[in-house]
Amino acid sequence: MEKIVNLAKRRGFAFQSSEIYGGLASCWDYGPIGVELKRNVKEAWWRDMVTRRADIVGIDCSILMHPRVWEASGHVAGFTDPLVDCKLCKERFRADKLMDAQCPRKPSKHPGECEGELTEARQFNLMFKTFMGPVEDTASVVFLRPETAQGIFVNFLNVLHTSRQKIPFGIAQIGKSFRNEITPGNFLFRTREFEQMEMEFFVRPGEDERWYEYWREERLNWYTRYGIRRENLRLREHAPEELAHYAKACVDVEYHFPFGWSELEGIANRTDFDLRRHAEYSGKDLSYYDEETKERFYPYVIEPAAGADRATLAFLVDAYDEDVADGEPRVVLRFHPRIAPVKVAVFPLLRKEGHPERALEIVDILRQHFTVQYDQSGSIGRRYRRQDEIGTPFGVTVDHQTLQDNTVTLRDRDTMRQERISVERLVEELKRRIEI
Ligand code: GLY
Repeated sequence: MEKIVNLAKRRGFAFQSSEIYGGLASCWDYGPIGVELKRNVKEAWWRDMVTRRADIVGIDCSILMHPRVWEASGHVAGFTDPLVDCKLCKERFRADKLMDAQCPRKPSKHPGECEGELTEARQFNLMFKTFMGPVEDTASVVFLRPETAQGIFVNFLNVLHTSRQKIPFGIAQIGKSFRNEITPGNFLFRTREFEQMEMEFFVRPGEDERWYEYWREERLNWYTRYGIRRENLRLREHAPEELAHYAKACVDVEYHFPFGWSELEGIANRTDFDLRRHAEYSGKDLSYYDEETKERFYPYVIEPAAGADRATLAFLVDAYDEDVADGEPRVVLRFHPRIAPVKVAVFPLLRKEGHPERALEIVDILRQHFTVQYDQSGSIGRRYRRQDEIGTPFGVTVDHQTLQDNTVTLRDRDTMRQERISVERLVEELKRRIEI
């Protein structure tokens, strides 16, 4: 993990938030390479979950919502962690995770096993509060959403009436959520501000278990489709006592991170809990009328809810490799071409004889289609290494022959093989290789 964090900082994947002020714990900023990586992850998700499907539409809701939403959803009453304080060191811990925590004074011991006495557990709500408008009184308190899902539930009728969808159908959303976690950590894995990729799939009651099975498989396969190794993924079914207040069943897609197996995504059977609760609290009828069977019912919901930052970290970790190239050790990120932040790098073999000028013309052509980097400094071997380290799948080199017959060499990051290709065919060939 340390290697990944160092590489991330050195090559512009992620920086600590507010670093020049000493940083803000568990908040991260994506740099120029990281932002492309995360965008590619989100775009792959959107393409597969929305664009390529006739039965799912998208939405983009506001982060601030009416405070009653969170009463109806159960988050005001139930979205809590039990916390204890150490009376000696004044640190705060999750009462149900004491065995995972270290005593800050005696790191070989767990909290409560040292001389410090722990307080009784108290429930601590994970939602961030803020104030709407200029008056800081309780009437103006609003919450930063702890999940994007509720924006989808409260818009169920709006989407139904404007999109002409019929059950079964889904509504998808990508957006920021916020949770005041007491123990964030592990780089991008657990942060208080994070981005979710959630989809609520509305089905007929009784068909929910079949769709639950469908989405479990579909979502597991999504990660392998973009290059994550199958042996680093597993499905873990929640035990009844782990289930969220709204769920009848839930399975996690877990990834084998360097710090252990951890959740990338939860697929939950939320039943009709949310629509019924919003109907009750808002006084609006949110049931669905089936024109064919002439039945009215509250749909059940299957929810694949993925973390965009966690997925980005998993793609980064899984891509990391070290091998030997031209007799030298190299770090290489073996990203799937779709996920790779930079698709192609262009190099003039020499910094003279017209090579840079021709290379820059080729950059201009490629930039209309792909994220491109141009690099003319250092030996060609070093330039390849720099691109391997950020996972650029293709390298184009301009040499003497380019100026004679308009061909370049096209290098593959993984095989390191090079072939000659005419500049006219370059865009088409790169598209073919990237869009696999
Ligand atoms: N909507 C489910 C979750 O945020 O985990």
